[in-house]
Amino acid sequence: MNKRTLLKSMTALSAGALLAGAMLPAAAQDTVKIGLILPMTGPFASTGRQIDGAARLYMQQNGATVAGKKIELILKDDAGAPDTTKRLAQELIVNDKVTFLAGFGLTPLALATAPLATEGKVPMIVMAAGTSIITDRSPFIVRTGFTLPQTTYPIADWAAKNNIKKAVTLVSDFAPGVDAETVFKSRFTAAGGQVLAELRVPLRNPDFAPFLQRVRDASPDAVFVFVPSGVGSIFMKQFAERGLDKAGIKIIGPGDVTDDDILNDMGDVALGVVTSHHYSAAHPSAMNKAYVEAFRKMNNIRPNFMSVGGYDGMALIYKALAATKGDTNGEKLVAAMKGLSWESPRGPLTIDAQFREPVQNMYIRKVEKVGNELHNVEFETLTAVKDPTKVAK
Ligand code: DHB
Repeated sequence: MNKRTLLKSMTALSAGALLAGAMLPAAAQDTVKIGLILPMTGPFASTGRQIDGAARLYMQQNGATVAGKKIELILKDDAGAPDTTKRLAQELIVNDKVTFLAGFGLTPLALATAPLATEGKVPMIVMAAGTSIITDRSPFIVRTGFTLPQTTYPIADWAAKNNIKKAVTLVSDFAPGVDAETVFKSRFTAAGGQVLAELRVPLRNPDFAPFLQRVRDASPDAVFVFVPSGVGSIFMKQFAERGLDKAGIKIIGPGDVTDDDILNDMGDVALGVVTSHHYSAAHPSAMNKAYVEAFRKMNNIRPNFMSVGGYDGMALIYKALAATKGDTNGEKLVAAMKGLSWESPRGPLTIDAQFREPVQNMYIRKVEKVGNELHNVEFETLTAVKDPTKVAK
């Protein structure tokens, strides 16, 4: 169509058609908005920084247009407060008319928002929060990070097979900590291990000292630890200060405690710590090497496991929009997400069609010095691991 015929056909449009155009559903509009809600300030700001950095990297690498739609990312800071997350989600749905909600740095933030996703029929991509129950709370929730049962059971099995007979569990006292504690205990005891004590530390402003004293008094072979991303360095510092490393008590857990973002600041106390997790900055694939390099260049920090939840969350959104050919109907988008598979910097990733959960490799890793840096070096792989608490019907 040349300019003149285009102008002609435009003037031929009736006022009624123009009005209808203004009221077209989101599916026919040109911009697709993603409301990205993250803790960008407060004690969990590292999670926000990692996911925001990864989402922007994904867009830089893959362009800001999918199926003819321009992608617009709207970042909001909830500072880790559930009431704020919920209010921001409401505003994003009602005022900004977002097609997707994404982010969710902590379980309570995801749980507070789940009813809004259902009501608004808005796909809600959980990139960080790891409590198993989250995806049961709305059919519009799809997760790209991990679940605690999924990341925990491999280390429980590994410990029982590697001469760890007695353990104490020490977890942050909120839902993902309870998931980790429960799954560790059931797997470890089923394999013949013994749990001597189960300790829960407050989530906010944790002081580990009194709990570490109790670990020391129980004299286990290992302490199983779950703390959320960003908190591992405080734990390690207090562990070393109380001399538990010298007492020969090993640290094991899912990989949150040896978070790659802060691992380098932990020092020698972290050396030799064995964890199970879905992502290490040291994962030896060509894709991951390129990812780590590009992420560092863009964000000036090393990517951790939270970052891949964000990166793959964007991949999921792009792939779903491509599959619906730009249709922004929430039900169609979620349907398109189910069963998708692709290669992630972490390794192969599939979205389970029934549970809307990530199916992915779990790696057993040990903290080692590589060059001048501490890294989680993978030495065993369990392939295509699912959340063991979710059994297909
Ligand atoms: C959750 C938060 C974290 O930072 C983490 O490492 C694991 C789980 C959560 O709130 O679900």
